[in-house]
Amino acid sequence: MKASFAKFVILFTVLAVAGFSFYFLSSREEPSSLCPQARTTVSAPEKDARMKNILAPTEENIQAGKALFNSQAQPIPCSICHGFKGDSIGVIFQWIKPYARNFTCFQTMKDISDGQMFWVIRNGSHGTRMQAYKKLEDEQIWQLVLYLRSFSE
Ligand code: HEC
Repeated sequence: MKASFAKFVILFTVLAVAGFSFYFLSSREEPSSLCPQARTTVSAPEKDARMKNILAPTEENIQAGKALFNSQAQPIPCSICHGFKGDSIGVIFQWIKPYARNFTCFQTMKDISDGQMFWVIRNGSHGTRMQAYKKLEDEQIWQLVLYLRSFSE
């Protein structure tokens, strides 16, 4: 009885590991297919889309944006989904549909205004995993926008 239970546990573990590996590997796409990136994000109202960044791209502001992006933004740092390199290959990459924006892709990013980015960070992108960051100060969002731009410059 005990032996067959042990066999069951071993078989279960082997199947679970194999199943997880298959799922993980098969759903992983190459980054190249993420640029240009399919994008169906709702456009900000015109006056928001035309907003200009109030901050200059100083090293200090970019570094502040980087700290928020990597670890400080609450409740979830941007890097979890957008990846530490901004290429959208974050730790939960394969579980997100649509994929998080790939900020390293100039072809896609060149058509997204600073105001549009600000608006999506503040309000989220409804129906996707991009949530609204209501607690960030305006200045912090503009620091983030400066950092996001730096990925495709
Ligand atoms: C839980 C996952 C997740 C986190 C955390 C996250 N994002 Fe996103 N983000 C997404 C997804 C998914 C999209 C794509 C939305 C879409 O296709 O409309 C996106 C899109 C965007 C866009 C693109 C807007 C556009 O018009 O194309 C910006 C800018 C952005 N995120 C900034 C951020 C910033 C800054 C943070 C951190 C403060 C952050 N995101 C955190 C998942 C996330």
